[in-house]
Amino acid sequence: MFRDLTPDLDNDALEPDMLLDVPFVPTDKGVIKEMLKLAEVGRKDMVYDLGSGEGCILIAAARYRGARGVGIEIDPLRIADAMEFAADAYVENQLDFVEDNIFDADISEATVVTLYLLPTVNVQLRPKLLNELRPGTRVISHAFDMGDWQADEKLELSSVTIYKWVIPAQIAGAWEWEGYDGKAYRVELQQKYQEVSGSAWVDGEVAELKNAVLSGNSLWLEIQPGAASSPDSFTLTFEKNELQSVEHDN
Ligand SMILES: C[S@@+](CC[C@H](N)C(=O)[O-])C[C@H]1O[C@@H](n2cnc3c(N)ncnc32)[C@H](O)[C@@H]1O
Repeated sequence: MFRDLTPDLDNDALEPDMLLDVPFVPTDKGVIKEMLKLAEVGRKDMVYDLGSGEGCILIAAARYRGARGVGIEIDPLRIADAMEFAADAYVENQLDFVEDNIFDADISEATVVTLYLLPTVNVQLRPKLLNELRPGTRVISHAFDMGDWQADEKLELSSVTIYKWVIPAQIAGAWEWEGYDGKAYRVELQQKYQEVSGSAWVDGEVAELKNAVLSGNSLWLEIQPGAASSPDSFTLTFEKNELQSVEHDN
């Protein structure tokens, strides 16, 4: 019955407790290759495919990039197929397929998350991704964006666009440090996703925060003390959303 699911989400045909948010359509091999490349998947990665279908993304991640992976899939028949295909590709020891709902599953161990869902489902999933994944985790979506959370990178293929986000640390707040020049730096930062803005002071004087670029746990800041002086740049590293270290770049 599940195999006859039409792309129009014919949920009436399913068991009442198994409503698909997205119909099954597999990602094609060429797109998978580009998704894994964009995510820079390697041997140390734990890739989670949310709505893993027949497991083709994870099988490729395990087979060609040596990664481990977990597929979260609501349809038990797809899980059975994925396990069979993983065994056929001799990568079953690297992979696990879990029958669960993508909105309930524990995804906190992921270092990479892959998605081929729908725009509305991506947006519904967004708070879970931002709250449960560790800063620095890469999220790759086949075809669909994430609403007003702008992608860090986009790759336009001939048939489709793929998107990449890096989970940002929570860095909003006031942070202070001493530069190598002995000056006291202070910033007060606001944040929306990875976009950072705010104010800066050097030795108690108002300065200009010229640039702020957040990637995972790493925040690059450019601060200009006065119109006549040249800007200073710093890389701030956060851990568990607390400031761990500051490097003066120039
Ligand atoms: C478009 S397919 C993508 C399959 C695979 N990720 C790929 O790219 O080849 C979406 C998959 O999500 C599954 N799915 C839909 N709603 C789900 C939910 N709420 N929780 C878990 N899986 C779900 C469907 O059964 C289907 O296999």
